[in-house]
Amino acid sequence: MSESSVLHTWCVQADWNAPTIVGGRGATLFTAGGREILDFSSLSECSNLGHQHPGVVAAIRAQAEALCFVTSAWGAQPRSELADELLALAGFDGGRVLFTLGGADANENAVKLARWYTGRPEGLVVARDRSYHGATFAAMALSGDARARTLPSALPNVTHVPPPYCYRCPWSRARPECGIRCAGAVADALAAAEGNVAAVVMEPHAGTNGIVAPAEYWPRLREACAAHGALLVADEVMSAFGRVGHWFAWQRYLDAGRPDLVTLAKGLTGAHAPLGAVLVAKHVAQFFERRMLGTGLTYSGHPLCCAAGLGALEAYREGRLIERAGALGAAMRARLDAMAGRHAAIGDVRGDAAFWIVEFVRDRTTREPLSPWPDTAPELRRLVARGLDRGVSFAARGNLLILAPPLVITDAELERALDTLDALLAECLPAAVPT
Ligand SMILES: Cc1ncc(COP(=O)(O)O)c(C=O)c1O
Repeated sequence: MSESSVLHTWCVQADWNAPTIVGGRGATLFTAGGREILDFSSLSECSNLGHQHPGVVAAIRAQAEALCFVTSAWGAQPRSELADELLALAGFDGGRVLFTLGGADANENAVKLARWYTGRPEGLVVARDRSYHGATFAAMALSGDARARTLPSALPNVTHVPPPYCYRCPWSRARPECGIRCAGAVADALAAAEGNVAAVVMEPHAGTNGIVAPAEYWPRLREACAAHGALLVADEVMSAFGRVGHWFAWQRYLDAGRPDLVTLAKGLTGAHAPLGAVLVAKHVAQFFERRMLGTGLTYSGHPLCCAAGLGALEAYREGRLIERAGALGAAMRARLDAMAGRHAAIGDVRGDAAFWIVEFVRDRTTREPLSPWPDTAPELRRLVARGLDRGVSFAARGNLLILAPPLVITDAELERALDTLDALLAECLPAAVPT
């Protein structure tokens, strides 16, 4: 076995240096070398159910015995059952679900649906800086992220607006008097397109860019889309399935935040099998009742993956994991606030439930970033490396730590991971007395 025959993603091949994993249980992973690693990021913020969840594994096994594959042109029981369940959870009565293989192609297809539905083949798509929507060509064009700027954009008429980044407000306005200028920027972009608009595509909660919008933001996007005839697409690839204490992050705003399309992946199967989806609201679904849907994938709604999805939904319900995320959030907030009181390198702590962002600074008063975005400072790299040496895996991006444990993490494991983080902050990011 040689890892050098694999083209590893998001890295310089010669620098690749990561553990090889052979098994897992709950929030713990087992390495080929016999070590245990406590996972404090749900790997790519996707293993919401932990690793090798027995219910999901059993669902995949049972489906494998019955039927591994049927063409997406024909019917498949787990596919239609999963679609029914997702629409019910979202309250999308009369809607439909388009299944994909992951998050990027869900977003690609959401843009297609929006441009067909609005009748504007090159209608404007508004996305934002500091966002991530995937690494396929159109998803790269949507992403406001250095990772997606390595080739020219392949999607016409996409614009990026500044993010709702309160800690470093792009308009230098203070809350709560800011007037939510960030939401106004979306409305302005739609207005400037003079009717040639298709969609606003945004993450309703923090993704890997660490932006946590104020509560007024998302409902204002809903209003702006309605006023200008654009569809609101909630990219819930990372934020759904309990990550922020709801099945879907937009549900915190009830009907005032209801999107027209919702894209899903990751927690949909808890990463036990590759599956993405676009939830399509009734009015959009009806548009396609008597029109050609010009898109498809051989593996759209693959039975094994849909069985994993059904197993995952049952696991969330049975373990009361959406509720559990709220309890994790209270415990994490208390510990992280206490750490911010002791470690001056912590500039900001923001988030909710099982999804927290810790932003590091060189100077708390000036808010000078620990490293220019999106670079990761050597100190933070050291913290992550030492965490791994001590058996806890943390995810860093730029000057952020993204803390997103599996929802099945035990209270004792949570405390152990946070104790480790506290100790590592003192070792790797020592700073004078907090101001
Ligand atoms: C918000 C968001 N959208 C889309 C994607 C892309 O999903 P995938 O990697 O499954 O294509 C990601 C992946 O991290 C994401 O965080």
